[in-house]
Amino acid sequence: MQDDTRAATRPPRDLHEHLAALDAAGLLVRVDRPINKDTQLQPLVRWQFIGGIPEDERKAFLFTNVVDAKGKRYEMPVLLGALAGSPRIYAMGMGRKVEDIGPAWTRAIANPVPSRTVGTAPCQEIVITGDALREPGGGLAALPVPISTPGYDTAPYLTATLCVTRDPDSGVQNTGMYRAALKATDRLVVRMVARPGGAGGWLHWLKYRERGEPMPISIALGGAPVIVFTSPAKLAVDCDEYSVAGALAGEAIETVRCKTNDLLVPASAEIVIEGVIDTSVLEPEAPFGESNGYVALEAFNMPMKVTAITRRRNALFNAIISQVTPSESSVIKKVAYEPLFLDHLKRILNVKGVKRVVLHEPLTNLRPVIFVQFEYGAPQTEIWRGLRGAASLIANFGKVIIAVSDDIDPSSVDAVLWSIAYRSNPAEDTLILPNKGGGQGSQYGERRNDSALLIDATRKRLMPPLALPRKEFMEEALGIWNELGLPKVRIPSPWHGYTLGNWGDDWEAFARNAVNGDWEANGLQTLARQRPGLEAETAVRSVEK
Ligand SMILES: Cc1cc2nc3c(=O)[nH]c(=O)nc-3n(C[C@H](O)[C@H](O)[C@H](O)COP(=O)(O)O)c2cc1C
Repeated sequence: MQDDTRAATRPPRDLHEHLAALDAAGLLVRVDRPINKDTQLQPLVRWQFIGGIPEDERKAFLFTNVVDAKGKRYEMPVLLGALAGSPRIYAMGMGRKVEDIGPAWTRAIANPVPSRTVGTAPCQEIVITGDALREPGGGLAALPVPISTPGYDTAPYLTATLCVTRDPDSGVQNTGMYRAALKATDRLVVRMVARPGGAGGWLHWLKYRERGEPMPISIALGGAPVIVFTSPAKLAVDCDEYSVAGALAGEAIETVRCKTNDLLVPASAEIVIEGVIDTSVLEPEAPFGESNGYVALEAFNMPMKVTAITRRRNALFNAIISQVTPSESSVIKKVAYEPLFLDHLKRILNVKGVKRVVLHEPLTNLRPVIFVQFEYGAPQTEIWRGLRGAASLIANFGKVIIAVSDDIDPSSVDAVLWSIAYRSNPAEDTLILPNKGGGQGSQYGERRNDSALLIDATRKRLMPPLALPRKEFMEEALGIWNELGLPKVRIPSPWHGYTLGNWGDDWEAFARNAVNGDWEANGLQTLARQRPGLEAETAVRSVEK
């Protein structure tokens, strides 16, 4: 892992600071040639995720010469991959090292820092309201909003959003990253997951609808990465995300009141789209390529009338790349959700022996497949409590949950399957939990209950050593490999042998003799132990006590 030492100072206070830091760290690609935002922009960056480029070498992309399908040129640059192109890029936004991301989230959730409202803000340097929002090519059409999945999506979409709404009862604001389709220069349709455990904004919408009132909403784009990171994080329903962002930032987040509604948005945002949702009607939205790897089909969602667009003079348009994982969308969630799961199992449920939680990312998109790693020897009852705990934290997370021991790398599916193959007995070590929440939306047909498969693939007994050369021999050989100038190798897990409890001093001595060239001494020793009257393959230990 690269060590971005600059990242240890403090998190960037806005997107421009973040961009400069990415550039300085060699993590930014600048594209100055014309790029069509409707057909070329997202597909170009998609190659970075599907083209076999190592995660650590992924970059953020800045497009400075953006045009559209009709040849219109946009002054505003577009930024893609800058939030979570990789954990390394995300860590730059957090102003921390990659390994500190998890603990930082846990500390921030436990110690929020209230935000502070200011009178003037960069995000309101330019204010567009009234008829200017409805001019042809004006309003939303003036923004370089890319199409995410050209060929399937029905509109340009706002993706890296911080959708701000307020609970009409408690007055507490919620922010969520919800997609929003452009419909007119002054109208969007916002999609908020509408099911138990769904979007916080949807819970607010239900309340406004019950009151027969419209729901004010503001969508902030850009801003200090720590604020944007809280938008897709699964925080408690009544948790004020700005205060968690404040704890991540190490200082109160500055907010500003919107020009045409009462909501507070981050002062550091690049662009803010203010408006109101008429809760008495819904409008068709999608098809749109989703992070579960399929295209969401048309469904009725919430139309938002735009009442103002405010922005910085030098605004950057920030988008996110989602759809089939890995993507920016899965990285941004993975780094925040894994610590949440570990904290839940370790601190809240006090499950003994739990060490790590990994949400499987490629293609499955984090939710369905979860690996939980335990210390060897953790009581079986605790392993099952951990499996059930992981199955219940978030309604639609955990369709297949697998426990492994600490010598198995849960980020290697090969290693996990190896563990299932040799360390579990399906008749004894699996359980199917009925009545789990389904992972997909109404667009995919009738919503039915799903279920979860739990597998205890931990090591339950002493086992012989892993049959690879001991670490010191593999290390020495790697040195020779490199000295010979052979192709660079990728170090998998496992990459060297290690003992797993079923081993003895006698065999250790034999192995030492062998590597010292004294194998004939071993032969002399076993010659003395020859026996008559046994069946072939009788285990020595069953005869010699
Ligand atoms: C790129 C991206 C797009 C997302 N799109 C949506 C969406 O359209 N609707 C939705 O409800 N959640 C969406 N999510 C998930 C929410 O952001 C996530 O569940 C978050 O916790 C929502 O905040 P809330 O719990 O305050 O509603 C998306 C997440 C990411 C990373």
